[in-house]
Amino acid sequence: MLVRPLVDQERIQREIETLAAFSETPKPAITRVVYTKPDLEARAYLKQLFLEAGLQVREDALGNLFARWEGSAPDLPVVATGSHIDAIPYAGMYDGVVGVLGGLEAIRALQRTGFKPFRSIELLVFAAEEPTRFGIGCLGSRALAGVLTPESLRLLRDAEGRSLEEVRWEAGYMGSLEEVLLPSGYYAAFVELHIEQGPVLEQEGIPLGVVTAIAAPASLQVSLEGAGGHAGGVLMPERRDALCAAAEIILGVEAFAKNSGSINTVATTGFCQVYPNAVNSIPSQVKLEIDVRDVEQSRRDQVIRQIIQGVEQVCTRRDIRYSVEIINMDPPAKSGSEVLKALVAACGDAGVRFKLMVSRAYHDALFMARIAPTAMLFIPCRGGVSHRPDEYAAPEDIARGVHVLALALARLSLAQERESPKDEPTPLED
Ligand code: GLV
Ligand code: MN
Ligand code: MN
Repeated sequence: MLVRPLVDQERIQREIETLAAFSETPKPAITRVVYTKPDLEARAYLKQLFLEAGLQVREDALGNLFARWEGSAPDLPVVATGSHIDAIPYAGMYDGVVGVLGGLEAIRALQRTGFKPFRSIELLVFAAEEPTRFGIGCLGSRALAGVLTPESLRLLRDAEGRSLEEVRWEAGYMGSLEEVLLPSGYYAAFVELHIEQGPVLEQEGIPLGVVTAIAAPASLQVSLEGAGGHAGGVLMPERRDALCAAAEIILGVEAFAKNSGSINTVATTGFCQVYPNAVNSIPSQVKLEIDVRDVEQSRRDQVIRQIIQGVEQVCTRRDIRYSVEIINMDPPAKSGSEVLKALVAACGDAGVRFKLMVSRAYHDALFMARIAPTAMLFIPCRGGVSHRPDEYAAPEDIARGVHVLALALARLSLAQERESPKDEPTPLED
């Protein structure tokens, strides 16, 4: 390849540590929810770093942040990288952050070699990849790709009943939501660097994953209403306990996923809110949030149908009122073949062993794939642990991923043609 970027491993580590300080919970537990003070402070820190790197910074009405390194062909579709910095409650310091600070260091490493981009290179920080505040993941990238319209964005409310409109204005994002959508063709390619959030790379001793597809995620909200009452006074035959119904539903969710016939089906009831949540009061209302994923969309949809039928049966038998709301049922994404080729070539340039693999976690790349040829790079994380304070990625693994990312961005930036939408078959996994 034309360039030999030298990655500053220590600098990335320092910046990851600095960013981790912007959190509602003390290190190593990171909580950074979109539009809260730590999120806004973290963004201010990043904007400073982007400006210091000589990048042109802009933010859209949702708070998607773009930092652009102008190429010599500024009118051609742009090459992009990036990820998110929001963190679910009690998360770790690497999820998303590695793709943002790693993307920045990839650009700085290319700058240090004297590389001159042909197509411009943009670093993106997506707003609210995590569903923590508004119940739906990848808010920023969905909106960029037109998967969430301004009308549906305006309907979103957080757990306190505050609208997205209200909280984004309060955070200083006053622009028009109509301007968030990016035209298809704006980006020539998108590459997201991320920790694997699974154990495969570490177990197989392979330093890098090249992601060929992202599994299809879905989530449902189930609301249950029975009858409350005194835990001593109401006899068992009279009860309509909403939490007992929820317990049966939750076990059903587990069983349907386990019995799908594939290890690739996963289902989780990760949220359960009980009212009135008091030891001596029968639970009258319960809200559940259920997450279902599979690399095969039809198998995932079958599990969702089983869950909905299960809710119906349990609630009829127990005389519980219920409603099921599908929050999202997204199709999977396949990586773009030219971007994959650039990633594989970059691994060759860097002399890094890699594995073709699918992502079972979702990422902003799932939605960027709707508007641009997209692929991802995974680095190992210790024990496959993520969404926990003990999440850890080794500095040398991060630096290796950044090195390959830099080489891939350079290749993609120099490419004359944007990848055509027709798909070439690529094996999904090694
Ligand atoms: C992303 O955080 C996911 O839940 O896959
Ligand atoms: Mn996450
Ligand atoms: Mn992430």
